[in-house]
Amino acid sequence: MKVLGISFGRKMGNTDILVKEALFGAKDAGAEIEFVNTVNMKIERCIGCGACSTRFRQGEDSQCIIINDDFKALEEKVLDADAVIVGAPVYVLEPVGQFKDFVDRFGPRHDRAAMIGEQNIRIEYGQTENLVDPRYFKDKYVGYISVGGAHTHNWVSLGLPTLHTFGMSSAMKVVGEIDAYDMGRTGNPVLNKDLINKVNTLGVKVTEAIGKPYEEVEWYGEEGTCPVCHQNLISLNGTTSVECPVCGIEGKLIVVGEKVSVEFSNEQQQRARGTLNGLQEHFLEIQGFGAIAGPKLEEAKDTLPSLLKRYKDFDN
Ligand SMILES: Cc1cc2nc3c(=O)[nH]c(=O)nc-3n(C[C@H](O)[C@H](O)[C@H](O)COP(=O)(O)O)c2cc1C
Repeated sequence: MKVLGISFGRKMGNTDILVKEALFGAKDAGAEIEFVNTVNMKIERCIGCGACSTRFRQGEDSQCIIINDDFKALEEKVLDADAVIVGAPVYVLEPVGQFKDFVDRFGPRHDRAAMIGEQNIRIEYGQTENLVDPRYFKDKYVGYISVGGAHTHNWVSLGLPTLHTFGMSSAMKVVGEIDAYDMGRTGNPVLNKDLINKVNTLGVKVTEAIGKPYEEVEWYGEEGTCPVCHQNLISLNGTTSVECPVCGIEGKLIVVGEKVSVEFSNEQQQRARGTLNGLQEHFLEIQGFGAIAGPKLEEAKDTLPSLLKRYKDFDN
C-alpha cells in the first residue's frame, strides 16, 4: 500500500507539516509512504494543444507534449500510488496556482471514462500489447488538506472545493478533508494538537480505505451540504432547484424555519461528476460536440474567413 503525500506549500511551511503528519498516520496504519514538496518543481501550464488526445486516439499513450519540466515525475508518482494526500495553501481564496497547473495537465488526460472508451476500442480491434496503461483504471483514494492564514473560513472559501478537482477526472474516491485555516494566529500547526490529531487520522483513514469498494468508504470530515463532496457551496438560480457546483448535481432547497438544507435524490448523487457515471455523461457530451458544430462550420466555410478577418488582423 503506497501512500503519496504532496505539499504545494513552502518547504517546512504549514502545508508540509500537515501533509507529513498525515503520512505519519498512514505509516502507522501500515502504508509505505512518500512525501513530495512541489515548490521548486517546474510545472508548466497546459497550453490546450490537444496533442495528448490526438496521440491517444491514434492508439498511442496519452502523453503531454511538454517534456522539459517536472510534471511527468510527479504524474508518475501519483499513478504509482494507491492513495494520495494532497495539501495546498490558499492563495487568494483558492489553492495556489501551481496546484491548478498540475490538475489541468493531469486530470482531463486521465479521464477514466475516456480511458475506458479507448481501451474498449483497442480490445475490439484485437490489440493485445498496445493497451491503455492499467494504472489509469486503478481505484485510488485521496484526502485533501487546505491550508490558509485567515482567521475565518471567509478567506478560504474555494480552498477545499477546488482541491476536489485533483482526483475528479480519474474518479479517485475522496476519503476525507481538513480545512486548516487560521494559521496566522496558530503560529505553527504543531502548536494545535487537535489539528495535528485530525490530520494524522486523515492519513489513517485514507490508508484504511485502500482496496475498499467506494460505496463502503466512510467520509472523514464535516458532513457539509452536498452528500457526495460534502462541500457547502451551492449555486442558486432564483428557484428552489439548486446545484452543487463541485459535483454538478441538482437538488431541492428546503427551508424549515431558520434551517436550510438541500435534498439530492439518489439518482442525482449517482451522476456526480467525480463518479464514473458522471465522467461517462461528460465524455458522451464532449463526443457529441463535433456532430453539432461540424455541420455549422461546414455551412459557414465560405463566410468564416471574412468573419474572422478583423480578429486575425487585430492591431493594438
Ligand atoms: C499570495 C498569497 C495569497 C494568500 N491568500 C490567502 C487567502 O486568500 N486566504 C488565506 O486564508 N490565506 C492566504 N494566504 C496565506 C497562506 O495561505 C498561508 O500563509 C499558508 O499557511 C501558506 O502555506 P505554507 O506555509 O504551507 O506555504 C496567502 C499567502 C500568499 C503568499
